[in-house]
Amino acid sequence: MNAAPVSPAGAAPADSSAAQVPVIAIDGPTASGKGTVAQRVAAALGFACLDSGALYRIVGLLALERDTDLDDGPRLAALAARLQPRFEDGQVLLDGRDITEAIRREDVGRAASRVAAVGPLRAALLALQRQQRRPPGLVADGRDMGTVVFPDACLKVYLQADVRVRAERRLKQLIEKGYSANLADLLQTLRERDQRDQTRDCAPLIAAEDAKVLDSTTLTVEEVVAQVLQWYRGL
Ligand code: CDP
Repeated sequence: MNAAPVSPAGAAPADSSAAQVPVIAIDGPTASGKGTVAQRVAAALGFACLDSGALYRIVGLLALERDTDLDDGPRLAALAARLQPRFEDGQVLLDGRDITEAIRREDVGRAASRVAAVGPLRAALLALQRQQRRPPGLVADGRDMGTVVFPDACLKVYLQADVRVRAERRLKQLIEKGYSANLADLLQTLRERDQRDQTRDCAPLIAAEDAKVLDSTTLTVEEVVAQVLQWYRGL
């Protein structure tokens, strides 16, 4: 979400004609580049950006800090219902606390992937996500943007890439940020995350029937962004 406070779940939609507001849904597996692509597409079009994974990461972080079971549906849903994160200038704030770095930790990513399989939590986060649909438009990235959250999105992109290439990209990102990591561990983590995301009962990671599948294994970010913009402008 770009430079905008997120209103609490359950609040009225920001715009009663929200359904008219264009949404570009970008879904795909972990480390496929969705986040970067979504931000650049949103910037090019002057749209807001919803990083839905950040919401699951926030719940994962809170669950770890509060020793909440990562499969305790009612408690996780209660956590999510009170969530009022703010996304401002690339920072993520929760109750005045800067959690930008904390939610990117690998242990938090693993916790996010676990809590994301819990149905009541997913239901509790729906309203919060849909409220981000405001004029002039929204680019939403995640796993179920095109299938569950915004099934009427005007453009659905399913971004995939070879798991080894994704692991290499993630390694580069982590090293640039000063974290230590190794390729073998990352490969294993990515495979586990893919498996969990694709096989869970609730909102599994799958390309929507009407999604355009884009394989970024051999493409640069610029090429992927250009393709998405070309599809959007050609609608
Ligand atoms: O960084 P990475 O691509 O692995 O994950 P993310 O997009 O930050 O999302 C963190 C976790 O939340 C993922 O592993 C998914 O399991 C889950 N997630 C989801 O289930 N549905 C979404 N719409 C977004 C994320």
